[in-house]
Amino acid sequence: MSQQENLPFEERYYQPPYKALYRESMEYPEKFWRKMAQELEWFSPYEKVLNDSNAPFFRWFEGGKINVTYNSLDRHLKERGNKVALIWENEKGENRSISYLQLYNEVNKFAYALQQLGVKKGDRAVIYLPLMPELPIAMLALARIGAIHSVVFSGFSVQALVDRINDAKAKLVITTTHTLRRGKRVELKGIVDQAVEQTPSVEKVLVIKRDEEPKINEKRDVIYQELTRRMPYKKVEPEETSATDPLFILYTSGTTGKPKGIFHLHGGYGLWTYLTTKWVFDLRDNDVFFNTADIGWITGHSYIVYGPLQNGATTLMYEGVPDYPSPDRWWELVEKYGVTVFYTSPTAIRTLMRYGEEWVKNHDLSNLRILGSVGEPINPEAWRWYFKNVGGSQLPIVDTWWQTETGGIMISATPGLGNYMLKPSANGLPLPGVDADVINEEGLPAKAREKGYIVVKRPWPGMLAGVWNDPDRYIKTYWSKFQGLYYPGDYAVKDEDGFFYILGRADEVLKIAGHRIGTREIEDILISHPAVAESAVIGVPDPVRGEVAVAAVVLKQGHSPNEQLKKELEDYVKKNLGAIVVFKGIYFVTKLPKTRSGKIMRRLVRAVISGQNLGDTSTLEDEASVEELKKAIEEFTKEIREQQKP
Ligand code: WT7
Repeated sequence: MSQQENLPFEERYYQPPYKALYRESMEYPEKFWRKMAQELEWFSPYEKVLNDSNAPFFRWFEGGKINVTYNSLDRHLKERGNKVALIWENEKGENRSISYLQLYNEVNKFAYALQQLGVKKGDRAVIYLPLMPELPIAMLALARIGAIHSVVFSGFSVQALVDRINDAKAKLVITTTHTLRRGKRVELKGIVDQAVEQTPSVEKVLVIKRDEEPKINEKRDVIYQELTRRMPYKKVEPEETSATDPLFILYTSGTTGKPKGIFHLHGGYGLWTYLTTKWVFDLRDNDVFFNTADIGWITGHSYIVYGPLQNGATTLMYEGVPDYPSPDRWWELVEKYGVTVFYTSPTAIRTLMRYGEEWVKNHDLSNLRILGSVGEPINPEAWRWYFKNVGGSQLPIVDTWWQTETGGIMISATPGLGNYMLKPSANGLPLPGVDADVINEEGLPAKAREKGYIVVKRPWPGMLAGVWNDPDRYIKTYWSKFQGLYYPGDYAVKDEDGFFYILGRADEVLKIAGHRIGTREIEDILISHPAVAESAVIGVPDPVRGEVAVAAVVLKQGHSPNEQLKKELEDYVKKNLGAIVVFKGIYFVTKLPKTRSGKIMRRLVRAVISGQNLGDTSTLEDEASVEELKKAIEEFTKEIREQQKP
């Protein structure tokens, strides 16, 4: 071949839009956010993209008027009125498909009913509902009139519900009679009845009727179907809320016994869930998105309700567990509805793995094109199983790192921006607008592969607006460990390519099956039991749930340790807090290791249980307690090891 021949070599190569967009967001943030915000509909324009004069109380799009429900519903009526917005199915296979127009009508009807009950802009309402269509309908209806919703996961129990209602000073609670879980009825109204005995702010309980007539308290309860039966159909125009008006409060666990009311706003949160849904899940008009999360958690708020609906997508919600009536329930749904994008948690994958791959193989999953994971780090074994069996060894798995506080996904691959680059067990690169880094204890950037803390170095629209009723806690928890940086409380490493790997919580917060629960919250419940004087709760690794709880308990005088009491304490915690608290064990000791100032040294409890070196014990108040504790715990660990033997 002659040397002069003109071969088609090219020096430059095509870059996916991700790179350019990321760079633009860092170099010209103002211009970038203006452009992004244009994709939503505003009632009136904002004055400022970001007001940072009162940091860390950053405010996005101040002065602008926008309502997230207008962008989720009204906006789609012209082009997508008859497109399916929401598909719902339960364990028994009962289902509903609700178009954008129907959803719009349902939300208007619900909003009008709320107005009849006297709910106004700024009022708080707690929603305690399972994954039934009325859950997103109630959220959207409240948001439509400018009221603030606070969804409490229906697996939580009385005490958790009481605390959340009282902190939000909710005047309305929305609930239903029951849900089905593994074919069994779980009563919800009964829990609300107990809770509202202790919540002075609640004026009314709105009950959605399901199969049977609910038992009601005439003075307090209103049955939704009764209220709306004779009601004329009235359109309720969306309140022209400010971009900086609160949309919802969602409680999450922290390091104290009191859950934090994370609140988000119409403008920034709306924009962030809209954009991240597009960037990460790449939702197009013929996609069917199945997110297996419960709407009681942020994952459901952002990626069952607000993100998909603002994108005009079809979103599937399933009221049930993945392995009932059989372990292929989800794959049945994926096949039946032609699901294209599927989003779930590592715990769910590990649970289904145990039943074997046959359950997946029997279904046609060929419509799937993107898989996602969220809530906790995914271990390589679970990743490979998911990739091979669900993704047929060819679909990208977006391992999305984010938090209740961040409003939406922060670190992930972004197929919607052409970035499919994956490394198993890495979360990937920060999304446009996310200035994330890993820094060490001294606050200096960590070297590649050096473990440190993940931080976010500048505000982003989806960030929490604060902790409800507690501005000091907001500053202390998120903005004080490192001056001027947002501190999420996770360990992380970065590799040479800038890929982030989130390693787990750096604080006293457990992740049981991906559910966040504070050790202090569990301890507080234990101490409220008449037999318990003190307790220390720690997390230990678990092959399926990622992490589970272990409690060391000191009994009050007159109570003696026995197996029955252990069981009773476990049940007590589940009954008061919720069944998400799973124990590996509870064991009894006569003292807990404490500092001289009386702080329980959980670090020591943890060290003994995992058989690690105790480290520095110089702050320990009672040196003699260590040996006693060690012995007691060793007894107990032996017991666990015995149990774990195949
Ligand atoms: C914490 C936030 C984000 C919605 C569900 C949980 C952990 C979340 C990942 C992931 C590793 C993850 C972190 C985070 N986490 N996603 N992909 N890889 N860890 O929301 O209850 O607010 O919990 O979940 O520890 O801080 P959350």
